[in-house]
Amino acid sequence: MKTLQTEYDQPLASFNTLALPAVAKLFFDTSNEDQLVAALEHCSNIGEIPLILGGGSNIVLSGKPIPVCVRIASRGIRVLSKSADRVIVRVSAGVNWNDLVEHCLAAGYYGLENLALIPGSVGAAPVQNIGAYGVELNQFVERVHFRWIESGKAQNYSAAQCEFGYRDSVFKRQLNDKVVITAVDFSLRLHSEVNIEYAALRQELGDLLTPSPAQVRDAVVAIRRRKLPDPDSLPNAGSFFKNPVVSKKTMQRLCEHYSNVVYYPTSSSDEFKVAAGWLLDQAGWRGVQEDRVGVHREQALVLVNHNNAQGAELLDLAARIQSSILALFGIDLEIEPRIY
Ligand code: FAD
Ligand code: EPU
Repeated sequence: MKTLQTEYDQPLASFNTLALPAVAKLFFDTSNEDQLVAALEHCSNIGEIPLILGGGSNIVLSGKPIPVCVRIASRGIRVLSKSADRVIVRVSAGVNWNDLVEHCLAAGYYGLENLALIPGSVGAAPVQNIGAYGVELNQFVERVHFRWIESGKAQNYSAAQCEFGYRDSVFKRQLNDKVVITAVDFSLRLHSEVNIEYAALRQELGDLLTPSPAQVRDAVVAIRRRKLPDPDSLPNAGSFFKNPVVSKKTMQRLCEHYSNVVYYPTSSSDEFKVAAGWLLDQAGWRGVQEDRVGVHREQALVLVNHNNAQGAELLDLAARIQSSILALFGIDLEIEPRIY
């Protein structure tokens, strides 16, 4: 095992896409499972639960010191098996998500193209069951491999055991702060069958009625580049709030007041998902810029750090947005990224 890379008082601003400052008292950079086990053993010895860090694209650092941070930077993509129409691929947690999407497209393994350009790591993808443009990660997950933080022991869960939901999984609930995901097995298609159900995607494809997976990827990338700011030039964490799921009664009330409200059906006929971006936009938040933080002009659901803001400033803006949406629409917005 190469020596475990250890830093003290490591600044974290360059390790999160919101570029928020905080200091990790102890920082372990792990590039394989042996190093991860060694880091976890250290955490257990000193009685600290580490912040597990991937690409830092779904966290908000409040500024409090972080006692221990364990970064997952393991690499590796390998085929476990192939049948006539599916391939099972095992991917290490530290692999960059978009690199995996591109690798799969080039190899002729299909399904992930709608999830192109989502920042972050493969290991974090099951945590909130990443989703975009009509596809969610769980549609392609076979198993998730993890280690228990306390004991370092390895285990794995089937997709059903992961209890995936909209921006949700067992890793956000019962297993929160208890495990580190080390690898994910994906079951991907060997034939091209695309999903172009999402209205904005169909619109982007225009006359292309039977696009190839690569053309779907290109369309998704084009939409994302237009709407979502590149964290390298305008720090952000993607959607700051989840799209709220409301009852049929609330939905009817909203429709009576606002004929143009944007909403989607869910798997339950009694519940509907409201576009939170639309709510923020209606409430006048789109494009608002305060001192150092603001709301993105092209997509009101994205909060941005304009100029070296502190986490507290962003969280203060988020709290005022939540109050205004509650007052105007009677809807509670839930913050999507995890706050530390
Ligand atoms: P991090 O931010 O490092 O971590 C996020 C959470 O997961 C933390 O609680 C962390 O402790 C935990 N975690 C990380 N790695 C592991 C691991 N190996 N084991 C256990 N826990 C772990 N998300 C979407 O779903 N759809 C989108 O379309 C989308 N678009 C985005 C666009 C932009 C511009 C940005 C900045 C973000 C977007 N996101 C989107 C959010 C984000 O990209 C995803 O949530 C991504 O999966 C986070 O990966 P990460 O490695 O950066 O996680
Ligand atoms: N809208 C507005 N004004 C805005 C923003 C949105 O009116 O400022 C309306 C538009 O009518 C649009 C609708 O809201 O048609 C939905 O917007 P969009 O297609 O951009 O999707 P979203 O619901 O805002 C969700 C995910 C994104 C994901 C996209 C595409 C959540 C919380 N967000 O956003 O995920 O990329 O769909 O599938 O579910 C993320 O999680 O970080 C993220 C970026």
